[in-house]
Amino acid sequence: MRSLKLSLGEHSYPILIGGGLLARADLILPFLRTPRIALVSNTTVAPLYMEPLAGGLEKVGVGVTPIVLPDGETHKNWESLNLIYDALLAARCDRSTTVVALGGGVIGDLAGFAAATYQRGVPFIQIPTTLLSQVDSSVGGKTGINHPRGKNMVGAFWQPKLVLADTDTLRTLPARELSACLAEVIKYGLIRDPPFLEWLETNMDGLLARDGDLLAQAIERSCANKAEVVAADEFETAKEGGRALLNLGHTFGHAIETGMGYGQWLHGEAVAAGTMMAVELSRRLGWLSAAEVGRVRTLMLRAGLPVTGPELGVARYLELMSHDKKVIAGRLRLILLKGMGQAVTYADAPGADIAAAIESCCRA
Ligand code: NAD
Ligand code: GLY
Repeated sequence: MRSLKLSLGEHSYPILIGGGLLARADLILPFLRTPRIALVSNTTVAPLYMEPLAGGLEKVGVGVTPIVLPDGETHKNWESLNLIYDALLAARCDRSTTVVALGGGVIGDLAGFAAATYQRGVPFIQIPTTLLSQVDSSVGGKTGINHPRGKNMVGAFWQPKLVLADTDTLRTLPARELSACLAEVIKYGLIRDPPFLEWLETNMDGLLARDGDLLAQAIERSCANKAEVVAADEFETAKEGGRALLNLGHTFGHAIETGMGYGQWLHGEAVAAGTMMAVELSRRLGWLSAAEVGRVRTLMLRAGLPVTGPELGVARYLELMSHDKKVIAGRLRLILLKGMGQAVTYADAPGADIAAAIESCCRA
């Protein structure tokens, strides 16, 4: 088992990574305030993984209230959140009940927001089951839901007490989902870790073949990067750089997700196409060479990811991007690359260059 720590003072927590962890009630028990959990999952993940997890916990005396939500990005909304609150209230869960998320980023974000708000906040544990949630969304405490007008527009920062990533769960992940998840892995190499980018270029085939050791290495390195960034800027308030850098490609990507309708493009797919827009814009600003843009493109394609966005029209992209959470006083801050591994926040990109970058990365 690999183990890391996210250092946030008294809110610090461990990130445990390895095979067979789901059934290890002994790893979870020390993090429960009382032997009582509400286990939030969905109709796809629950039949696969709820029993080994819940069974192990029940054996050591933990009371488990299962909450199974419909699956999909389209359900990351108020209705699902209310289903969680209804179930918590019906089961008389109190302030010491720990909410446990078992699933991908959608379940983690929903369950985390429920934990942040139920009775003004209850303990929370993340048990991520997609590569994306194991490398990114389960770590760092961002929780929330989508609004029809914008991705992740309603939410809260609420840190888990523990992140438990069982790499065996990745065996059942559909191939399209695995590829989509790799966009967030590649992100760490691009924004701050060039040796990791090279490692990904060497090991991409092995990752796609689900080599357990390679996956565990990629998760550990990704989480180490994320933990460092979050520890330095937990609430994304740094004026420059900071946690916002984790959003490379996301402003464009969220426009794709919202513009196409949630669930049409997977989050990682939209981030991949959005990342191509960001690196193309960086090239137009003279910060990246055409060869470097080509290098990113090649890696995305090898990961099975799209490198062009849908034809929403530049005006629609810009309209959707204007709702981004990184907009401050009407100015959009984009995450761009001043070089490979050197991400920056930048609010001065000329509108014509932004439009041209979008245009040149859209499907004809
Ligand atoms: P997801 O949660 O929708 O999971 C993808 C699909 O895989 C779903 O159908 C799910 O049911 C299924 N699944 C999950 N685990 C499985 C398994 N082991 N075997 C088989 N199927 C499995 O998508 P995701 O890519 O995990 O997460 C995307 C979401 O995460 C987006 O909503 C995005 O906004 C959010 N996100 C949040 C953060 C954050 O910091 N909070 C960071 C990145 C992304
Ligand atoms: N996924 C971006 C962040 O956690 O800040």
